[in-house]
Amino acid sequence: MDKPKEIFLKDYTQPNFWCEEVELEFDIFDEETFVKNTSRYKVNESTDGKTLKLNGVDLELVSISVNGEPVSEDRYHYDNNLLEVSELPSEFELCTKVRFNPYKNFTGEGLYKSGSILCTQCEAEGFRRITFHQDRPDVMSKFKTKIIADKKRFPILLSNGNLLERVELDEGRHSATWEDPFNKPCYLFALVAGDLEKVSDTYKTKDGRTVELEIYVDPGNGSKCSYAMESLKKSMKWDEERFGLIYDLDIYMIVAVDSFNMGAMENKGLNIFNSHYVLASKETATDSDFLGVEAVIGHEYFHNWTGNRVTCRDWFQLTLKEGLTVFRDQEFSSDMNSRAVKRIEDIARLKVHQFPEDQSSLSHPIQPKSYIEINNFYTATVYEKGAEVIRMIHTLIGEKKFRAGIDLYFERFDGQAVTCEDFVQAMSDASGVDLTHFKVWYDQNGTPEISITTTYDEEVKNLTIEFSQNVKTNNSEFDSLHIPLRLELISNEGKLLDTSDHSLLELKNKTEKVVLTDIPKGCIPAFNGGFTAPIKINFDYSERALTLLMKSSKDFYVRYDAAEQVKESEIKRLVDSIKANNSPVVSESFLSAYKSIIEDGHIDKSFKAHLLALPTEKELFHKWDSYSFEGTKKALRILKTSIAKEFKGEFESFVGDFLNEKEEYVVNPVQVGKRALFNQCISFLGYLDDSSFFKKMYDLLVSADNMTIEFGALKVLLSHESEYSEKASDHFYQKWKHETLVTQKWLTLSTQSELVSVTKLETLEKLPEYDEKVPNLVRSLIGAFSNNIFAVNSKDGEGYKFLARKIQEIDSFNPQIAARIAKNLNYIDKLDGDRANILRSELKKVLESGKLSNDSFEVINAIVS
Ligand code: BES
Ligand code: ZN
Repeated sequence: MDKPKEIFLKDYTQPNFWCEEVELEFDIFDEETFVKNTSRYKVNESTDGKTLKLNGVDLELVSISVNGEPVSEDRYHYDNNLLEVSELPSEFELCTKVRFNPYKNFTGEGLYKSGSILCTQCEAEGFRRITFHQDRPDVMSKFKTKIIADKKRFPILLSNGNLLERVELDEGRHSATWEDPFNKPCYLFALVAGDLEKVSDTYKTKDGRTVELEIYVDPGNGSKCSYAMESLKKSMKWDEERFGLIYDLDIYMIVAVDSFNMGAMENKGLNIFNSHYVLASKETATDSDFLGVEAVIGHEYFHNWTGNRVTCRDWFQLTLKEGLTVFRDQEFSSDMNSRAVKRIEDIARLKVHQFPEDQSSLSHPIQPKSYIEINNFYTATVYEKGAEVIRMIHTLIGEKKFRAGIDLYFERFDGQAVTCEDFVQAMSDASGVDLTHFKVWYDQNGTPEISITTTYDEEVKNLTIEFSQNVKTNNSEFDSLHIPLRLELISNEGKLLDTSDHSLLELKNKTEKVVLTDIPKGCIPAFNGGFTAPIKINFDYSERALTLLMKSSKDFYVRYDAAEQVKESEIKRLVDSIKANNSPVVSESFLSAYKSIIEDGHIDKSFKAHLLALPTEKELFHKWDSYSFEGTKKALRILKTSIAKEFKGEFESFVGDFLNEKEEYVVNPVQVGKRALFNQCISFLGYLDDSSFFKKMYDLLVSADNMTIEFGALKVLLSHESEYSEKASDHFYQKWKHETLVTQKWLTLSTQSELVSVTKLETLEKLPEYDEKVPNLVRSLIGAFSNNIFAVNSKDGEGYKFLARKIQEIDSFNPQIAARIAKNLNYIDKLDGDRANILRSELKKVLESGKLSNDSFEVINAIVS
């Protein structure tokens, strides 16, 4: 196999031609689809290339002409997914006609089938599976699209922009023509054809225009769209109020599809969504599913400005649109719900996904410098760390200047394809704050660590804090990062001290010293309050100090982080004691710290549920240098059982009160908090192994009127062996096997047991509801299993062998999904010799099979080498 080509940021050059207008005509038939593409090109005066280079993958070229004249064969060449046309005038119209079969395309890119409808996914490089085009985001054009298809099978025909006309044709066919007035890169092109139910509403913009809102779903699902529709209207209003950004077309359409590689896609005026992020009813969706719908609807809507109106020059700039839009969707969700809880959840997500990625062999800066396959770079780093980098700018310059920076960004770049550098420059110019040093964040991979020491001078009452950055920058000018760091001091009695002008430090040097005066003895410093920077802090806290911070800090992140450290060190202590063959006992001091959380009457219940939750095995596996699979499992079980015994009364009383309350289900922060805490309590109570409690959970499962509680009860029952576990699983499966989104939840849960075997997975794969060609189903079975650290890493290597086999199989039709599963195995260095050897050899076999996609090659090659 040829080694795939690596693409470098430093090699960027402009295209030889600009494409100003694209006119597409899709003729859809049962076995084939024809696409006629008439495009207007103009030479790019600033390059000297004369050849037009068009991307095209799996296309059969039927005809090609320039200015109406067929192009002779010696003037064009189609090979290696590239069509090159030469001897062109400086302005011309190119017309190509291609043929392909979307029903045989299972890649999730280009035009493909989802259920009984046809839809497209063009980001990042899917447009080349539809027609010949310069498939790169800096080529922006106006699109007009005519779709012709059978009227019975495809009554709904959609594309970007406004509908120009609909025409009835012979032989039961019809057509629809759409025109998008805005220039856009082809990755924002979309088309949908199928039999869909439409849910309509309208939105009145701040400037008085009425926008038609339409959500298209499989017939019968219309009743599950109201939350998505409300979320869309909230998003539109929020962006007007917070950023002054108003929607720019007269229609906004969302289509929900069951087969989708990602969560959702921001195509101009015609978003395509994974149905998981549209369909939600209290019976089928949990609270976190509802909040996911709100966040993703917001995210894709916000892209209309940050991504579509101003887009990326090249794919190395991906964080320009994704980091910024994640920041915007996080802010939106914070304004709609509990800000503190949302922030904790975002930080937790970053730590669980991005920190390990940044430690692994796939670590990269938020602006990567090279890639083989761009699809591999839609990562937690580009997205979540990218959003933290935007948040740091916000922290450094403040909300008002940040808004001025956003205004200037659009004033300068509306309608253009730009770079991250352009964005930061606009922020800097509008705020008057020099961000030159700050830009190092864009080029830096790895999680920065700050080591901190303090000394206290009793005589003069000075507290000296010394910071040292353990980072090696990729930058010749700066050897450190510019880091905003919130500082808080808590007195011995748990009171917050005034640190006024030191409350937000800006670290700029490798080592830095801050002297605080007039500080009473015994004060405890807390760093990185609110998580002002995505870094790790090394500071030696005593147990007492952590407990104090956990109870008394005014900063929710400091409290959360202190609680995490307390829990983690207790688990570590238990694991060590198990290793040393002692009988491990949970410490009194831990239980007393834990009790203070339970008894806290002031905090939000969702926040309390987070504070009470113990870290997962996966989290600990990635955090700790040496990891015992058996030991950690045992330690967690002992700890959970002790907590359940110690606080049985408190948990039972909360559970009892909750069940007596019988409130009408709504998704609001108060109710979501109660249900989260309820599910946390029952999950602990499960460890008492009491059959009457399991009976109660079974009854709850059967009688629950909402999925949050129903699924909570199911989780408890499937986590413990009892006479009810199989019964519960069967009941749930039978009840929900016709709702694929709920079946997916059940599959995921079924892979989470420590006892899950390859045989069990193969049985699940054979269920009639399972379909390997549907990404959500693969994610909920194979993807979820790959996250079950204990089962995947079974000593006999069966987990590795199963996953290697699946990766190879799935790679043959959907490389993106295969590569994403492979990424979950990126931890060979963390394994002991035997495990590491088996995993390496299994992955090498896949690598050497000779038929691997670029996607999987890039990932697996990084893992094994
Ligand atoms: N533009 C992306 C979708 C996308 C990513 C398409 C990669 C093709 C390849 C979209 O805006 C996005 O970021 N979606 C996220 C969800 C979002 C809430 C972070 C996704 O799909 O996971
Ligand atoms: Zn996005």
